[in-house]
Amino acid sequence: MSEILRIRGGRHLSGDVWVSGSKNASVAIIPAAILADSPSTIENLPDIDDVYCYMEILRYLGAEVSLENGKMTIDPRGINKNVLPEAMVNKMRASYYLVPTLMGRTGSAAVPRPGGCNIGGRPIDQTLKGLTSLHAKAYEEGGVIYAEATENFHGDEVFLAMPSVGATINTMLAAVSAPGETRIYNAAKEPHIVDTANFLSSMGANVKGAGTDTIRVKGGRPLHGSNYTVIPDQIETGTLMIAAAATAGDVRIHGTIPIHMEALSAKLLEMGVTVRSYDDVIEVSSVGNLRPIKVKTGYYPAFPTDLQQPFTAMCTVMWGTSQVTETIFESRFRYVDELRRMGADIDVINNTTAIITGVERLHPAPITATDLRAGAAMIVAALMADGVSEISGIQYIQRGYEHIDEKLRQLGAEIEYI
Ligand code: EPU
Repeated sequence: MSEILRIRGGRHLSGDVWVSGSKNASVAIIPAAILADSPSTIENLPDIDDVYCYMEILRYLGAEVSLENGKMTIDPRGINKNVLPEAMVNKMRASYYLVPTLMGRTGSAAVPRPGGCNIGGRPIDQTLKGLTSLHAKAYEEGGVIYAEATENFHGDEVFLAMPSVGATINTMLAAVSAPGETRIYNAAKEPHIVDTANFLSSMGANVKGAGTDTIRVKGGRPLHGSNYTVIPDQIETGTLMIAAAATAGDVRIHGTIPIHMEALSAKLLEMGVTVRSYDDVIEVSSVGNLRPIKVKTGYYPAFPTDLQQPFTAMCTVMWGTSQVTETIFESRFRYVDELRRMGADIDVINNTTAIITGVERLHPAPITATDLRAGAAMIVAALMADGVSEISGIQYIQRGYEHIDEKLRQLGAEIEYI
């Protein structure tokens, strides 16, 4: 029988909590390590299923991998396969970062189309465009992505149609192996893009401009293993900030990079929440009575789509009407039905805008996480509700949040896996 997360809501969260390493940086940095000619050690990896999934994949490919206390050592020298079976990759969106890295290591790759959260179509056309712009042969056939570094594989200009995180990372990962200079225009600027670029630089790659619209890579250099520490998780930080605000709490979140949180902090301040930051600490406190708000998701540094779900959950309890607009993914409001089961009053217009009329309180209900961040929304809602809620579908939550039960318990929540 699968596990359930049981939460007795109504507590004000308070105290100190530490953020884990970034999921979305980790899942790009781990496959990047196979480009090296010697072992790498990557620290501060979160204890989440996506990391274990990668460990299994790399071992299958022939790499030597060990993992202890968030520290993974990867020796890629034994890699002797470049074709992956579907069952290994279908749990994780980021598995397609193995396309450019296996191609860089072995000359070609065949990786089944990735799984991951079902939040919209999630096409891969821009990844294929990135690779073919570098004159690799890259295409999808029968649900498998094929890539080959042809004789003509070399750096060139790549114009992305939108600043896709996945396409930017895949193109950057290919470009470090492509002789000559690559320029990626309209690149994504998320913190995990910068972290991946920093890791590549620490391996001896020449990558400049990450965090801006244009990334420049001088490729074809031999890369060596590196010791690297992954940045803190922006979305976990945001989820904890939202949980604190939603429960009229008083919480100090340690180990953060406050500048990554500016879009969320600005919105919380507008709602009457106190947000202060110093060094790597963000303090969030609220006495309740949140003010209604309008939020629109966007590419970094705009409000992250990955916080849209827990943020919407927070807006369900207040006086007044809030509006949350999703601009990145087309099906990221499916979880709203679960919030309605708890008494939330939400209308979703054209699958893009949630009109949330605040209610006095949510009542507990059996609810289901339909994807990772929907799981975060369920947790926030259950923390606010008076009484015991049981959340199923927690395998999604375990994909991306390290020990969320322990962290919230540390803040005074009544929460347990049963
Ligand atoms: N898009 C295309 N074509 C492409 C690629 C993307 O049309 O080839 C569109 C998508 O359909 C979407 C938009 O561009 O509308 C942005 O997609 P993006 O490629 O940036 O998303 P992703 O790389 O698939 C990553 C994160 C997501 C996060 C998004 C947006 C990882 C492993 N995943 O996904 O994280 O929501 O960027 O920031 O980094 C999560 O952590 O819960 C999660 C879903």
